[in-house]
Amino acid sequence: MVDTTRRTFIFAGIGLAGSCLLPRTLLAEAIGGATGGKPSLPLQHGDTPVAPREQWLLDFDWRFAFGNGCDPTKDFGYGFGQGDFSKTGDFKIATTDFDDAGWHALDLPHDWAVELAPVHDDSGDDDTRLTSHGYKPLGRRYPATSVGWYRRTFEIPASDRGRRIWIEFDGAMRDIVLFVNGCFIGRHDDGYTPFRFDLSDFLNYGGKNVIALRVDASFGDGWFYEGAGIYRHVWLTKMDPVHLGRWESVVRSTVEGDVATLALATLIENEGEHAVHASLEWSITDASGRVVAHATTPAQAIAPNTPANCQTTAHVDAPQLWSPDEPHLYTALVKVIVDGATRDAEQFPFGVRTAAFDPDRGFFLNGKPLKIQGTCNHQDHAGVGAALPDRLQSFRVGVLQGMGCNAVRTSHNMPTPEWVAACDRMGMMMMCETRHMSASPSGMQQLDTMVKRYRNSPSVILWSIGNEEWRLQKGALEQQGERIGAAMVGRCHELDPTRVVSAAVNGDNEQGVSDALDVIGFNYNLKYPDAFHKEHPRRAIYGSETSSAIATRGEYVTDPKKNTVNSYDGVVPWGETPEQWWSFYGSRDWLAGGFAWTGFDYRGEPTPYGWPSVSSQFGIVDLCGFPKDYYYYYKAWWTKTPSLHLFPHWNWSGKEGQEIAVWAYTNLDEVELLFNGRSLGIQQVPRFGHVQWKVAYAPGVIEARGRRNGKVVLVERRETTGPARKLRLAVDRAEIAADGQDVAMITVDVLDEHGRPVPTADNKVTFRISGAGRLIGVGNGDPNSHESDKEPRRSLFNGLAQAIIQSTDSVGTIRIEAIGEGATGSSLVPTSLTVTTRKAAPRLVVA
Ligand code: GAL
Repeated sequence: MVDTTRRTFIFAGIGLAGSCLLPRTLLAEAIGGATGGKPSLPLQHGDTPVAPREQWLLDFDWRFAFGNGCDPTKDFGYGFGQGDFSKTGDFKIATTDFDDAGWHALDLPHDWAVELAPVHDDSGDDDTRLTSHGYKPLGRRYPATSVGWYRRTFEIPASDRGRRIWIEFDGAMRDIVLFVNGCFIGRHDDGYTPFRFDLSDFLNYGGKNVIALRVDASFGDGWFYEGAGIYRHVWLTKMDPVHLGRWESVVRSTVEGDVATLALATLIENEGEHAVHASLEWSITDASGRVVAHATTPAQAIAPNTPANCQTTAHVDAPQLWSPDEPHLYTALVKVIVDGATRDAEQFPFGVRTAAFDPDRGFFLNGKPLKIQGTCNHQDHAGVGAALPDRLQSFRVGVLQGMGCNAVRTSHNMPTPEWVAACDRMGMMMMCETRHMSASPSGMQQLDTMVKRYRNSPSVILWSIGNEEWRLQKGALEQQGERIGAAMVGRCHELDPTRVVSAAVNGDNEQGVSDALDVIGFNYNLKYPDAFHKEHPRRAIYGSETSSAIATRGEYVTDPKKNTVNSYDGVVPWGETPEQWWSFYGSRDWLAGGFAWTGFDYRGEPTPYGWPSVSSQFGIVDLCGFPKDYYYYYKAWWTKTPSLHLFPHWNWSGKEGQEIAVWAYTNLDEVELLFNGRSLGIQQVPRFGHVQWKVAYAPGVIEARGRRNGKVVLVERRETTGPARKLRLAVDRAEIAADGQDVAMITVDVLDEHGRPVPTADNKVTFRISGAGRLIGVGNGDPNSHESDKEPRRSLFNGLAQAIIQSTDSVGTIRIEAIGEGATGSSLVPTSLTVTTRKAAPRLVVA
């Protein structure tokens, strides 16, 4: 029997096996639902108490050990004598005979790359030097740290016999080989698409089962940090042999007048031995749980292994449309009924909205023009690498929304389900991009998976078939580019006739892959869009990748000796400052807007420097999500609320008498700057620009007074502070769910004796965590820091550090103490903070 004592049904209100359905979408909603901010989808349980499908979370209590990429003796014998695959059932490592006592215990998601110390090898090219992946020792030259093994034992009740049981992985980096109960089950070899295997015939019903997974991260999929290991959730899904096809249930809405027509489609599969007569019942509920539409399909014969497509329609009166300002979601519940009994069911959120690109007037959502104020983002974060707890996705979306960003591009790969769920829930539009621009079976499989998986998500307004495939754009493979582009665009249209398809093209878009695109995306190259628009007035255009401005948070001098970039006007030669690209895209109505490279800093691509920089400097916020000054440029021009930001800080000891550039970003009419009470003049704010002064430094205060219609609306001051005296902690939420997954984001700074944050502080801090939580990562946003992301200590970088605290499954409190350490920290007054953990939403977790 399944052990129900520990994590299974740990929360009140849930019966035993088979009596509860809580689909993963709802788990995500439950976790993110209490995050404050925009409205979120409340938990809904559908209109019947029981759905027979179960989806169990298989994230906890795994064992991990490094294998080896070239030596079988260090790889648990994998690859000895070419005999491994010769007989079914011979893989000892996936049997109960194998002793994994020496392996590490861990929970998923897990990224082992983030735990590895960076390595510097200057002997060869960029690849040898590991530059683009952030100097982590991964690759065929690093066999000892590039292969990891995961093991897990679990029980399956005898009563499950006859059901179809799948193990489902949301993603792993990168090549996996799966074994269960001694048997080879299958492989998967890209780092971003989910995959699953039917284990029904391999399981031991009424007893113990063993999974072993070899994950080989020697090869990567991209030129940026990608992590290593099972960095997403794993699920065990149990279904009746008669069930819905995976990601086949689709709701497509059209709105006319005050009525939404919903085209409802799905696929019934019969893996049983006999034909059945199956009908469908659809019900649509609004965010309050009220059923607003219902539809059925008549019973039809479904022969074994002969899937049947089923379609019907429903209508919703006065639909509440999804938009960034009001991200209304509906829930669709679809049930398969055979002889009056529900054999399978699934429930998922969707939105009602229209999205259109117009060649003359840009992008329209629900019939109204909306400029895309977007950012491109990779998926890693400080402290945790690629293994983000779900809540961190909403945190990151919230950070971007704070500057008025209304769209993200998932560069350059299929995003995780929780990122998309956060965007659906919080009102962030998405351009979803597949990793490989290719019409090969594997390229098409990646594309299919992405489109099918996310086509119900209202946040997705655009599919991207890839990024900067030079050879397919122009030159040697240009004609192949046309064919590959056409095949990929055609496939997207087939799977999802409701959305347009694009690609991020760095070039003139005149040939190759661009021919097939519905919407034209330009990466950089402000020289092309005007000419292209003139030449092709019927093609809609947006900026698929812009800017590539660079800045080190809190630094105001570009210093190649320190690998820092000033925060005023740093930009790579092929890029544009925020001001340059937004003046261009923001002032042309026919341009739909664009996506700046990048919202968040990410590991790898440490442009413009190499070692010892280990992460990029492209972010508008750093690796922790702390804003750089550019953030406030966007806030000024991307939001309507009055905003004013003055920089730099005013701690320039040693630079007395030297001129310091003082800038302000604002959407007000004019700004007056005062220095120690004396006016240095008023400046009018140019549209999409900034204002600036030169001030000879002396300690004191600079003050900006922002006026609109002659009235002072906002005042910002920067004061010279004294030395750091006292630590301070702040948390994004004082209460989190006691589910072993939710996180609290802690910001650490230090104050001087007058309580002013010290913007240049670099004190080292130790964290002590006690109670119902644990520390899962730390960071400070310094692109040059080699401090561990996992140890309970971190130096502040320009006044800030971050600690990520995760709940356990106990309801109680977590106490977080911060104590200064070493030469720079020992004189600081320590501090502490308490986070409460509350009973979590119900869910099924494999014990
Ligand atoms: C682009 C590329 C991005 C990133 C960026 C840096 O050309 O698409 O992935 O490398 O350059 O500026």
